[in-house]
Amino acid sequence: MNSDYRASDTVFLDIKTIVLEHGGLMATIDQLNNVIGCDESAANVRLGEFASSVYQHFQYEERIMEMAMYPLRDIHTNEHNRLMEAVVGATKSRINPRQPITRISENLRTIFGVHADFYDKVFVEYLKKKFSC
Ligand SMILES: [Fe+2]
Ligand SMILES: [Fe+2]
Repeated sequence: MNSDYRASDTVFLDIKTIVLEHGGLMATIDQLNNVIGCDESAANVRLGEFASSVYQHFQYEERIMEMAMYPLRDIHTNEHNRLMEAVVGATKSRINPRQPITRISENLRTIFGVHADFYDKVFVEYLKKKFSC
């Protein structure tokens, strides 16, 4: 473990960042929802932004898990991988006219909401307990 990581300020800031990024990701899904069906170009941009942001967010969480020696890291990382596949699937469905596009943002909001409310919540609680912050 990175010994610097034990500093509670660092852990506190990481927890704060994770929570803020969750809000940002949900906001991006809402922005996607607002343009989908009426501005295809903007919808594609938003979907691309979401895919990029969520990938970076997952990388960030996984680095913290490693530094904090999180025991559920493999399970959580597998879940990230599964969600990235869903994002890629959503991106592909944009070019499939048989897939109702309004479903994409609904599905993303549901699966990321469940992830944040369960997997990420358990991880954040672990950080708070282990590092007393
Ligand atoms: Fe997260
Ligand atoms: Fe996560």
